[in-house]
Amino acid sequence: MKFFSANIESLRELYDNQIRSLLSTEQQITEALPKMIEKATDPELKQAFQTHLKETQNHVTRLEQILSERGGKVDSIKCKSTAALISGAEDLIKDAKDESVRDAVLIAGAQRIEHFEIASYGTVRNWARILGENRQAQLLDQTVKEEGNADHILTSIADRVNPYAEKAA
Ligand SMILES: [Fe+2]
Ligand SMILES: [Fe+2]
Repeated sequence: MKFFSANIESLRELYDNQIRSLLSTEQQITEALPKMIEKATDPELKQAFQTHLKETQNHVTRLEQILSERGGKVDSIKCKSTAALISGAEDLIKDAKDESVRDAVLIAGAQRIEHFEIASYGTVRNWARILGENRQAQLLDQTVKEEGNADHILTSIADRVNPYAEKAA
């Protein structure tokens, strides 16, 4: 992890910076998902988190691949936005005692993170194309598609699970 700030003076430097920030995002999610799997009650939700944990490990590998191909250090820059999204979700999880309400909280927190990832990866994929890094753009595109798919699965689970939360005492 990097503790000093660097000057960002070109799109290429901005791209490198944001790839490192996304590496931090994915590392933080890799740590958060096992706790979310443990807290989830609905079996389909647990399974969706488990599947996405495996995908997330691939997201880490793709970013490390991009950074090592670029010849620089494969280190992350802490993503404060991801840390805030995760800690906000963790606070709500602690407060939700009812199982179906807790599942609703978990889905809401996870979907906020997916949307953050979709936006962030969409941006760096666009920069990779402008920079002529087409292979890297393809790797980033694979990840965007998996984030989008995870988000759709969570929407369909929410449609089934959230009405139970409505009935909670
Ligand atoms: Fe991811
Ligand atoms: Fe994700």
